[in-house]
Amino acid sequence: MSTSKPGLEKSVTSGAGIRQAFLKFYEAKGHQILPSASLVPEDPTVLLTIAGMLPFKPIFLGQRKAPVDRATTSQKCIRTNDIENVGRTARHHTFFEMLGNFSFGDYFKEKAVAWAWELSTQVFKLDPKNLVVSVFREDDDAYAIWRDQIGVPEQRIIRMDEKDNFWTSGPTGPCGPCSEIYYDFHPELGDDNIDLEDDTRFIEFYNLVFMQYNKDADGNLTPLQAQNIDTGLGLERMAQILQKKPNNYETDLIFPIIQTAADIAGIDYFAVDESKKVSLKVIGDHVRSVAHMISDGITASNVGRGYILRRLIRRVVRHGRLLGIEGAFVNQVAESAIALCETAYPELRERESMIKAELDREETQFLKTLERGEKLLAEILERKPKQISGEEAFKLYDTFGFPLELTQEIAEENDLTVDVAGFETAMEAQRERAKSAHETIDLLAQGSLSQLGIDSTDFLGYTDVTSQSTVKAILANGETVETAEAGTDVQLVLDQTPFYAESGGQIGDRGYLAGDTLVVRIEDVQKDNNLFIHIGRVERGTLSIGDSVSAQIDRACRRRSQANHSATHLLQAALKKLVDDGISQAGSLVSFDRLRFDFNSPRALTPAEVQQVEAQVNTWIAEAHSAQVEVMPIADAKAKGATAMFGEKYGNEVRVVDFPGVSMELCGGTHVGNTAEIGVFKIIAESGIAAGVRRIEAVAGPVVLEYLNVRDQIVKDLGERFKAKPEELVERIINLQTELKTSQKTVDGLKSELALLKSDQLLDQAQTMGDFQVLVANMGEVDADSLKTVAERLLQKLGEGAVVLGSIPAEGKVSLVAAFSKAAMDKGLKAGQFIGGIAKITGGGGGGRPNFAQAGGRDASKLPGALDAAKEQLWSALG
Ligand code: SER
Repeated sequence: MSTSKPGLEKSVTSGAGIRQAFLKFYEAKGHQILPSASLVPEDPTVLLTIAGMLPFKPIFLGQRKAPVDRATTSQKCIRTNDIENVGRTARHHTFFEMLGNFSFGDYFKEKAVAWAWELSTQVFKLDPKNLVVSVFREDDDAYAIWRDQIGVPEQRIIRMDEKDNFWTSGPTGPCGPCSEIYYDFHPELGDDNIDLEDDTRFIEFYNLVFMQYNKDADGNLTPLQAQNIDTGLGLERMAQILQKKPNNYETDLIFPIIQTAADIAGIDYFAVDESKKVSLKVIGDHVRSVAHMISDGITASNVGRGYILRRLIRRVVRHGRLLGIEGAFVNQVAESAIALCETAYPELRERESMIKAELDREETQFLKTLERGEKLLAEILERKPKQISGEEAFKLYDTFGFPLELTQEIAEENDLTVDVAGFETAMEAQRERAKSAHETIDLLAQGSLSQLGIDSTDFLGYTDVTSQSTVKAILANGETVETAEAGTDVQLVLDQTPFYAESGGQIGDRGYLAGDTLVVRIEDVQKDNNLFIHIGRVERGTLSIGDSVSAQIDRACRRRSQANHSATHLLQAALKKLVDDGISQAGSLVSFDRLRFDFNSPRALTPAEVQQVEAQVNTWIAEAHSAQVEVMPIADAKAKGATAMFGEKYGNEVRVVDFPGVSMELCGGTHVGNTAEIGVFKIIAESGIAAGVRRIEAVAGPVVLEYLNVRDQIVKDLGERFKAKPEELVERIINLQTELKTSQKTVDGLKSELALLKSDQLLDQAQTMGDFQVLVANMGEVDADSLKTVAERLLQKLGEGAVVLGSIPAEGKVSLVAAFSKAAMDKGLKAGQFIGGIAKITGGGGGGRPNFAQAGGRDASKLPGALDAAKEQLWSALG
């Protein structure tokens, strides 16, 4: 076996060469090369693809049949748990590529170990003297394979505990003992007392996981149906080793990006101090992450993976500023990242414009925020505090969009800390303020809810529209009361209710409570934890605590909110299906007369897309899909692929609303039993409501007819007014608009002609002041443009001199213009300055060049006085 590297092709040491050599090696061993999966995983329990095995999780768990027995991939991955270490250590990254070989119930430990060794020593030609392996403490089989079959000396096989050598994909899921291969940079230090944690000497580059258990939430291990292999070889790490670089960043996989950033900043990576190097490395790392994330459909937002993206982009911008880069630069470094990765990941170039547009938007927005926030921070730092207070950190967060982590980083750069507990307190106070701004908190504010002895209302409204209920609490005029007479506005709590309380975007039900002589109209229902607060008015009789009442919801209203709510689910499914699978909900409103769905998307939908989405929803409605509603553990719901709202907190048990094959969402709302009940769905508008957030407004069910009737009436009215059939209306209006424009042009032309005619008459009013001809005049209603033409023409006719004209083009508006000849200017007159002073008298201002300037004012009554002043000033300058 060769122990030196001269035989190693240069191409195999390059990042691309290593990737290619790995995949080809395992292809030759019967593995199918599969493409990298998206960074947005199918697995809803994780936000991003964190390992090469993630796309295969359902196969390991036996939930999905493996398409092949052996596979090999180069998987793009992102981990952000160690983000603070990025750029500070030799090998921490957010984005990295994991090369892996996988066996789905086919080969196991022996082959995995033998091939990993063959690859390392014969393809990558690493000297066995530089290799050390680790095994799980109790894995005697793996130990024996390394020692007896591969021939690794016992001192170089290290037993490690579960912390290091038992790999799990998350708190639960497939797992197993693992065995790792380390590269030893200093074998001359000998085999005694090998400490694999010493990262100045060792780097782990290949992890072989013997995937054979499933771990449940209590930590119990159950054997999987098959024994599998999951391996991961860090591409960047192998590049560091083979390219003999001191860290991953200086390899050809990242360094060109760093070089681009250094060029923009006008610095030399190898000459700058450590902190600048860190900034360059952070940029080099994060830019790869953000380009790939956006390419996979993620857009910046304040929740879930959108937040991770935003945070990474902001860190890039911030570190750019630390390097002294002024203004926008992220797209230049992103271009470098795209160029670097496009051969392996062509989608980056295909989606280049989307990537750059998103980065540009985020960067511009953040730069503005940064400038304001940095001012505040500078003020804080100037006071030389011991610590940045929680309040200050919260203000930076709340008002200037500085994530806490960013403030912490800046604090650290200034040898300060941040009062995180104080920040949390301020955050909590803010939440409380937001809560108490809500009307339902009336009861709570009285401190009376806790005294009621009831902490929940039984909700019967998924199945029932009426119930016999007992009145538990009444609040009138801000106080808890025993009884309330007719005419009183009340808030009340029942032991059980069919009324839906506003939540998940769906508004509360309306309806009545009725007793023998009692009627209470309910206008709204709100929820405080599990207590339903009915808000309404006693219409007849007396309402008393302890009353037994018949609670009845308004069924027509409920039918409408149900139709709108189910339609919202279909809308989300159609958007995912037809526009972008990565679309995620950013908010929604479901009321009786309309629905609103907000979602993250970097661009507007095209009119064609809007039509397609609407048609798709109507198709599903016509196909009459029955709803299946089930309560299940959250893990099961996620395993089934139910759509959840990122950033939303769910309990252990969740309600899943499923229109099989069409849409499955976690949802507590009320829904139609069958999509056919929705009847029809119509999109009314698509618009942008915030950066990267779009809104669709629509109607469903009976409301559609009302909406169309209103539109129909408008068309009829217009038809009558314009004497046209509906289909002729658009053309008729376009023609009218064209006619109007032509007439306007004619009027404008006539106006200037008139002004010019008038101007000739004005010539007589010119006064001689010394060697100059001076004309100051009020032109009446002439517009500003004509005033300008007239002034120029008059000055031409007068020869050496000055023209100052004023007019009142519209009510409350004054126009002024001054034109001076060369000789007049030589006397020290400057048109800009001059007219600015005159305009002030009329309550305005303006300016321009020394020979010609325009200005405006607001007070027309001051125009004569202003023109007199102009005359006087000209007299003293020229006379
Ligand atoms: N899943 C293991 C890891 O991520 C091996 O691929 O390290």
